[in-house]
Amino acid sequence: MRHWQIPAIAPILRANQRCELDDLRGRVTKDGIRIYEDADFAGMRAAGQIAAQILDDVGPLVVAGVTTAALDDFIRNEVARVGVVSATIGYRGYQHASCISVNHVVCHGIPGSKVPGRSSDMIQEGDILNIDVTVIVDGWFGDSSRMYTAGNVKPFAQRLIKVTHECLMRGIAAVKPGNTFGDIGFAIQSFAEENRCSVVRDFCGHGLGRVFHAPPNVLHYGRAGTGPVLEEGMFFTIEPMINLGRPETKVLADEWTAITRDKSLSAQFEHSIGVTATGCEIFTTSPKGLFFS
Ligand code: MF3
Ligand code: CO
Ligand code: CO
Repeated sequence: MRHWQIPAIAPILRANQRCELDDLRGRVTKDGIRIYEDADFAGMRAAGQIAAQILDDVGPLVVAGVTTAALDDFIRNEVARVGVVSATIGYRGYQHASCISVNHVVCHGIPGSKVPGRSSDMIQEGDILNIDVTVIVDGWFGDSSRMYTAGNVKPFAQRLIKVTHECLMRGIAAVKPGNTFGDIGFAIQSFAEENRCSVVRDFCGHGLGRVFHAPPNVLHYGRAGTGPVLEEGMFFTIEPMINLGRPETKVLADEWTAITRDKSLSAQFEHSIGVTATGCEIFTTSPKGLFFS
């Protein structure tokens, strides 16, 4: 069965394409999940490494007093300097090279907009923030996000970041052919809840590759053994958003910024991965080993 995103005529794929059209090569599972070929891993690795390098390089700029607009300017300039394309600029009207989500912002925080509850976009001592970057390199999408801290942060905030990173890594550890997407969600949810945190339900990971967002929806909660079966050659993100309080979210009037309804702190880490014969390859590992510290 072909999934709905595949057009009748294969489009010419351009490096800067921002549409959600997929091409017609290869196989798509009954759940609409594309199976990529061995040679495609190299393209994803190249894209993932550039996203990861940019996330490495922005780190030293994250200090109290910097604005999210300045952080996004740096990322936009790095994307241009390296000679790749931002996947987010122009995506559904979005105008920025990153999403920057501070404290109780769950995801899709808009650089340069006021931090919710404040009068400016300035980062303050004690803030925790997620920076999410997606680049297109030779037509391949690399999507990753990490947490950063400004100065000394409260122990409960540091704990949330640690739990969230562990959620991602436990989700990744569940990835191998024959396991299911439900196994990934179960691994994440059970660890989060054992640690008195909650899993956001309103946003999920996604297939990607030659497109930004493709099937399946990668849920960060669920039951073991349910959902589509993982196969070698599937490319997708895992990007759990974990809250200290309740899981419900609310999108602000800007139609992007998602916050926790109860204003509790939220954290997120994201990797782009590909399923291999024995497990998975993480495309967005940090060149400098800075993904989580
Ligand atoms: N990078 C985000 C993700 O993980 C998507 C951002 S879309 C944007 O899927 F338009 F908000 F940038
Ligand atoms: Co993503
Ligand atoms: Co992302």
